[in-house]
This record gives sequence, structure tokens and C-alpha cells, in this order.
Amino acid sequence: MQDFQYSYPVRVYFGKQSLAQALNVESAKMGETVMLVYGGGSIKRNGIYDEVVELLQKNGKKIVEFDGVMSNPTYAKVQEGAKLVKDEKVDFILAVGGGSVSDASKIISAQAKLNEGIWEMEMEKHQFPTEGIPMGVVVTASGTGSEMNNGAVITHEDKKIKAGVLGTLPSFAVLNPEFTMTVPESQVFSGAFDTLSHAMETYFGNSDQDNVSDDVALAIMKNTVKNMHRLVKDVNDQEARSNLMWDSAMAENGILKCGRKTDFQAHQIEHQLGAYTDCNHGQGLAVIHPVYYKHIVQDAPEKFERFAEEVFGVESVQEGLDALEDFIQECHLPTKLSQLRSVTPITPELLRKVADSSNLIQTGPRPLTHDEIYDILMECLD
Ligand code: NZQ
Ligand code: ZN
Repeated sequence: MQDFQYSYPVRVYFGKQSLAQALNVESAKMGETVMLVYGGGSIKRNGIYDEVVELLQKNGKKIVEFDGVMSNPTYAKVQEGAKLVKDEKVDFILAVGGGSVSDASKIISAQAKLNEGIWEMEMEKHQFPTEGIPMGVVVTASGTGSEMNNGAVITHEDKKIKAGVLGTLPSFAVLNPEFTMTVPESQVFSGAFDTLSHAMETYFGNSDQDNVSDDVALAIMKNTVKNMHRLVKDVNDQEARSNLMWDSAMAENGILKCGRKTDFQAHQIEHQLGAYTDCNHGQGLAVIHPVYYKHIVQDAPEKFERFAEEVFGVESVQEGLDALEDFIQECHLPTKLSQLRSVTPITPELLRKVADSSNLIQTGPRPLTHDEIYDILMECLD
């Protein structure tokens, strides 16, 4: 194993009573003014907003609202949020939503303590924030595991780059599977596929030594697939939603990454696809993964064989790849780029730009070139 350090400071409140348990305890540490960050309004329609506001008010908080955080949150939106934090002298940020709201909040928190743009600071100077406005996350749509780490994925619209930015680590996370029951079915599956992708991308990182993290990653993959199958039969299966919520958190709390390298090449390609199309993250991954794996399968045959056996219960590498493709179809996830929601037509010219701007990972089974990424994307086209 590689050397590593691990500590885990996010307090997780899991279960049906978790929102009240968390806010009643954590309120004492929040200060007076809490900024409630949320998305396009789903929390108002499903009642989560009312519950949160009531608990915050009961605990004597002044609430400042910052809403309208979009899927694939933009750098401009984050700047708007950070300005509000400064103007209103916010003491604590409470993110209530899916990965987009959580990600935006992590960067708003860090940006609010800086006198320069966090994007330039991180991407150009390679300096990273050392402080942020304290924050917590109430998860309403699971899959990204964003609540468990300090990474965020932000779209810089002017630069046409969607990239990982490091922000503030939440001090607590509320995981109530019941909150996910109103998530649209397509998002339930795309979120869960994102979790599967995180475990796969970690497992397929180039690590030649036998590693306990591989065993844990395979267990998460197997459980994610099993529970997604359960949701295909009954999308309202609460037990399956509960398992998937914890799978999502487990995949991104750092445990799987201990002592090993990771791949995340499919993510790098999907993020740039997202930068140009604003497509749904999990759906983009569902299209890219099988094609990417066909390209690299010869570079990690033993790992692919173990993946086939343990995750899908089949014997050969090829059967494993076929099983992954079949599984994506069973879950009614897209298999071609033409099936993705996109703000602009997905043409070969656009895919050239996506390919040329994608990060090249050096720690996967084999480093790709921009040309090979273009070939992969063209194979995904139709
Ligand atoms: O905006 P609202 O109205 O809340 O609606 C959202 C949104 O339309 C809706 N939703 C959320 N909870 C709901 C609900 N609808 C009904 N009932 C509920 N309880 O779901 C839609 C999607 O939400 P979003 O947060 O965009 O989805 P997701 O959780 O998949 O997050 C995607 C973002 O996370 C990034 C992605 O790139 C993308 O930008 N990622 C973040 C990661 C991280 N920080 O660790 C890792 C991932 O790899 C990923 O890149
Ligand atoms: Zn992801």
C-alpha cells in the first residue's frame, strides 16, 4: 500500500429523525446568522424547506436565503453566494439539496473568506483555501457523496471548463433516505450510477499491489448494483434508497482511496462534456464508462476479471463488460450521447473541443491521449 493519512471529521446523522437530531445539536455551534442554500425549489414542494426553517427558527437563528443553485453550478453563482455571505455577515452555511447545492456551498464558504478569486488561486497559483465559513449539508438527492469531502465541481462558463475546486469540508451531514423519495426517477438512477462510477474509478486506479481498499470498493459496487436492481423493480423501495444513500457516502468519504491511486478518467471526460452541454452528470458517465472500459480493458485484465466476478457474478472479462452495458440499459440510463439533455447539438466539432480540454489522468490503467478521448466520444455518439 502507499503511505497515507486518514481522519474523518464529518459527523453523519443518518435516518428518519436525523434532521431534527442534527439541527438541535449543531445549532449551538452555528452562530446567529445562517445562510440556507438551495436549488430550484424542490425542497419547497416536498416540505423539507418548512422543516428546516422551523428547526432553525426554533433554535433562534436569523435565516438568509440563497436559492436558485443550478445543476452543474457555475462559478458566477458561487461568487453571488459569497458576496451575500459577506454582505449579510453570515456565520454558518446550511446546504439543503443534492450534489450541486452542496458543491456550490463548499466553494461559497471558502470564497467568502478570500480577497481573490478562488478559481485563479487554485488553478493558476496552486494555492488552496485554509479557512471557510463553517457549513453543514442536508442531502436531498444522493449519489455524488459531495457531503463527505471538501471537493466541489464547478463550471466556469466563460472558460468552458468544469473542474474540481477544493473548498470547505462540512462539519456535519444529514442523510435521511426519506428525503430522496421525491427525487425524479431518472435522477435517482443517474445519482446511483455516479456512486457506482466513483467506486469503479477508484478501483481501476493503477495499483499493482493487493489492497484492502479494492475489497471495500468491490463491496460498494456490488451493493450499489444490487440496490439499483431493487429500484428497477420498485423505485419506491425505501430500504434500497437507504443503502444507496450510504453507498454514495462511503464511495466518497476517502476510505476507498486509502493507500492507492485512483483513475477518474471517465469523470474528467464527463466534466468537460458537461462544460459544453450542461448534461446530467450520472447520465454522461453511463454513456462514457462502457466505451472507455473497452479501450483500457487490455491494460488491467486481472482487475476487470475480478470486477466481472464480484460485481456481476460472471466469469470472463468480456461478460463483465457486457453485464455493465446490460445493467445500464436495465436502469433506463442513456447509452448514447444523442440521448443526453444538452444545451447545444452534440456534433463531432463539439466533441473535439471536449476531448482537447479533458484532463489526462496518469494513474489509470493506461494514460489516454486527447485523440483517443475523441475516438471514445465519437463511439458514444450514436
Ligand atoms: O434544484 P432542485 O429544485 O432542488 O432540484 C434538484 C435538481 O433538479 C433535484 N432534487 C434534489 N433533491 C430532490 C430533488 N427533486 C425532488 N426531490 C428531492 N428530494 O434533483 C436535480 C439534480 O440535483 P443535483 O444536485 O444537480 O444532482 P446531483 O446530486 O447528481 O449533483 C450533480 C453535481 O455534483 C457534481 C456533478 O458534477 C454535478 O455538478 N459532482 C460532485 C462531486 C463531489 N463534490 O464530490 C462528485 C461527483 O463526481 C460529481 O462530479
Ligand atoms: Zn461523479
